[in-house]
Order: sequence, then structure tokens, then C-alpha cells
Amino acid sequence: METTMTFEYAPAPESRAIVTIKPKYGHFIGGKFVAGGKHFPTINPATEEVLSQIALAGKADVDAAVKAARKAYTNTWSKMSGKERGKYLYRIARIMQERAREFAVLETLDNGKPIRESRDTDIPLAAAHFFYHAGWADKLEYAGLGTSPKPLGVAGQIIPWNFPLLMLAWKVAPALAAGNTVVLKPAESTPLTALLFAEVCQQAELPAGVVNIVTGDGSTGALIVNHQGIDKIAFTGSTEVGKIIARAVAPTNKSVTLELGGKAANIVFDDAPIDETVEGIVNGIFFNQGHVCCAGSRLLLQENVAEEVLHKLKNRMEKIRVGDPMDKNTDVGAINSKEQLAKIIELAAVGDSEGAERWSPACNLPSKGFWFAPTIFTGVTQAHRIAREEIFGPVLSVLTFRTPAEAIEKANNTPFGLSAGIWSEKGSRTLWASQQLRAGVIWANTFNKFDPTSPFGGYKESGWGREGGRHGLAAYLKGVSHE
Ligand code: NAI
Ligand code: MG
Repeated sequence: METTMTFEYAPAPESRAIVTIKPKYGHFIGGKFVAGGKHFPTINPATEEVLSQIALAGKADVDAAVKAARKAYTNTWSKMSGKERGKYLYRIARIMQERAREFAVLETLDNGKPIRESRDTDIPLAAAHFFYHAGWADKLEYAGLGTSPKPLGVAGQIIPWNFPLLMLAWKVAPALAAGNTVVLKPAESTPLTALLFAEVCQQAELPAGVVNIVTGDGSTGALIVNHQGIDKIAFTGSTEVGKIIARAVAPTNKSVTLELGGKAANIVFDDAPIDETVEGIVNGIFFNQGHVCCAGSRLLLQENVAEEVLHKLKNRMEKIRVGDPMDKNTDVGAINSKEQLAKIIELAAVGDSEGAERWSPACNLPSKGFWFAPTIFTGVTQAHRIAREEIFGPVLSVLTFRTPAEAIEKANNTPFGLSAGIWSEKGSRTLWASQQLRAGVIWANTFNKFDPTSPFGGYKESGWGREGGRHGLAAYLKGVSHE
């Protein structure tokens, strides 16, 4: 007789019938879709199915987009009252909610993330960013950013593939609320929800040229960064590209915000509520396949509870469901690209060769597509590359500490400083630790909580400036400090 009981889940697939994917897309410039020249495929990373052919913008396309954005800025958007701008933002937010299921399915197909996350996190938060900033559009003079704050002009925005629509919302909503117009480039592996957003702009009757979307790869991104007709660059992505952008804009008048990598410490003190902590550790590193800049990728356990936490964590990881992202019961979906999978495999192998101990639960990974089982490494030291470099995948490095001071020292021993987590029942300890940690966002007894009202951004190599909240507005207005 079986001694343990397991529940078999029946498949619960989301239908893709709600989305219509065109075989080929152009760019969205001056309120219209215009044909591209060269194209490249975007695929579903869970199946390797080609979803569509995406246009690769070259110089002429980027020029046309910047020109359209400038014209819309000068003739329409900068002249419009904040109240009128706000109406458009509210309209966009409502349409995003109405079409939420369509956005969620499309995001999951193009990105590989579980439908549960695109449906419950990405899309609702993206709409929330538009609602929040719609509210600011006619109240900018009360934001504490000067009595008559002025927009910067045309913003060039380059976003990554881990939260495609959400990163678009983080960039477009504050820019428009503050009176700027934009040229946005989605990541090459996840352009489809940005192209659907272009349709939403048409549906909302947003004046032509206020939002322009050009698709392409790093070469298109570089054309935007170096374009003389652009007043501000907003970038989210790798620290490596962030440094290239910082160098490119240094001799210019462009404003810049950079949201880069992280290697967040998630610190568990011995008085932490262990069961809740285990949930938080799982959410911290396995949410979105670990493709999260603020992921809790370095677990710091106080030595006297390390064994108990690891035991419970492994039990919990046995229950993580990895597989078809379109299944509503899936917890961990596909790795976004072949290149990202290769990077995760390489860094995990370095973990093995440097002497850390690897553990993964048994899981049946699909034969097609890009997959990596949830993994933890124990016996990690600060010198190990897997303790220092961003893996950007479902891989957790576990270190231990004896005293609170040692925890802080280890947590801050990193070139990054985007986020951190603290698990403790003592408020005084939490407040003390949060003041010592050199990180932009610090969560206490929770992890990966996002809210449009809260500024987000990093210290050190994690970036410049803040996005979200009142601080995020400053990054789209003239003459206000970004920090
Ligand atoms: P990436 O930084 O190359 O790509 C991000 C965006 O920048 C994409 O839209 C890309 O087309 C664009 N881009 C690339 N080169 C550019 C250039 N020279 N000038 C202007 N734009 C450029 O990131 P990638 O290669 O996809 O991922 C590599 C690593 O970066 C990941 O393994 C992860 O560690 C980190 N990353 C961090 C993210 C974050 O949210 N902070 C997001 C994506 C990646
Ligand atoms: Mg794709």
C-alpha cells in the first residue's frame, strides 16, 4: 500500500483561440503599421514553433520613428493639458484590462512564462501602471518636482524579454504622463505584446506619433541610443549593454535611466517563520523561471536553521510543476531562448567545477523547447562565480552565516545592489538590516512584490535612476534630480 498520497492534476490548457498572430509584422510609426525590410522569426520557446516574422529596423526606420515622435511632441502632446493626456492613459489602461486575456495568452506564447503568471501578474500590473500614471498626468505640479515641471521631449526606450508588456508599461506610462513622446524597441525574442499594444494605441485614438514601436535587435537599439533627435534614453537589460549605453550618452545632452542586473541576497535569520520563508524563497528565485533582475538568487541562511530550511525547501521544490506554460497548473515554464539556456547551463557547470553541490527535484522536461529544472547549489562560497554573477535562470546559490553582521557583509559583497529580502519575526532586526543593505528595494517577509506607486531601481552596477512612483516621474521631467 502507498504510504503517501499524490494528487494527479488533469491538464488545464488555456486556449490560444483568442489571439490572432499575423505571419509578418512591420513597425508602428506615426500611428500606422508600416512594412519592414528584413525580417527575423520570433518563436515560442516552449515548442520552438515559429510564431511570426518580425521586422528588423534599420537607420531609415528609426529616423522615421524619431521624426514622427518629434512631430507629435511639438504639435500635439506637449501642447495638450495634463487632464487631456490623462484621458488617453485611462483609455489605454481600460482597453488593456478588456483585452487582458488576449495579452496574457500572447505573452505566454512568445515568452514561455506560465499563463498563471502572465494572467495574474504581468498584464494586471501593466494596466495598473497606466492607471497610476493617468492619475499623475494632471497633477505633476503637485508631485514635489517643481511648480511647473516640463517634459524632456522624445524618449528612446529599450526593453528586455523577461517581462515584455510590463516593461513597456514601466517605460511608456510615465513618459506619456509627463508629456513626452516615445520610440520603443521591444526585445527581439518577445515583440508580440508590444505590437498588440500598438493596436491598443490605435483603438484608444492616441494621437499619431505619440507612441512609436520599432522592432529589431541590439543593432536597432544602438541606432536609438545614438540618435541625435532623442532627448532621453531609458533602458532595462544587461549590465554589459547598460555600460555601452552609458558611454554612448556621456558626451551628449541625453538624460538616461538604466535598470540593469542584480544578484539579490535573500537573508533568513534564525527567528524567521520557516514555512512562510520557504514559500518566499521559492517565489524569489523560481518566479518567471528566475528571469528576474531582482530575483532572490543568493540565499543566505543563518547556520542554526540552515538544515531545516534546506530540508523543507527541497520538499517544496519536489512539488514545483515544470512544463507547458499554457497549462494553468504550471509553476515554471520555458527558458526564454536557446542563448539564455546555454548561459544557464554554462554557469551551472561552473558551479559544479568550483565545488558547490547541485540538487534538483526529479522532473520530466519536455523534449522540444528550452528547459532547465529548478536547481539549488549548496556549499557555495563568496568566491564562487555562481555567488557573484547573474545567472538569470531558475538556479539558487545557498550560503550560510553565523551573525547578523556577517549576513550584511556577505549580502553587500557584490557589484550589484538592486534588491534584497529579509526574513525575521523581529521588526527591530528587519529595520536594522534594511538600513545596512546597499540595495534599492528591500522586502521583509515577502519577495518580488511590485506596485506602480513604489520606486524601483538599483545601487552600484544595478543601474541609474528610479522607475515607478513619484521618483520615476522625475526621470521624465526637465531639471529634476533622478536619485
Ligand atoms: P541585452 O541587454 O542584450 O538585451 C536587452 C535589450 O537591449 C534588448 O532589447 C536588446 O535588443 C537591446 N540591446 C542589445 N544590445 C544593445 C546595444 N548595444 N544598444 C542598445 N540596445 C541593445 O540582454 P540579453 O542579451 O537578452 O541577456 C543577457 C543577460 O542580461 C541575461 O542573461 C541577464 O543576466 C541580463 N538581463 C537582465 C535583464 C534585467 O531585467 N535587468 C533583462 C534581460 C537580460
Ligand atoms: Mg518569442
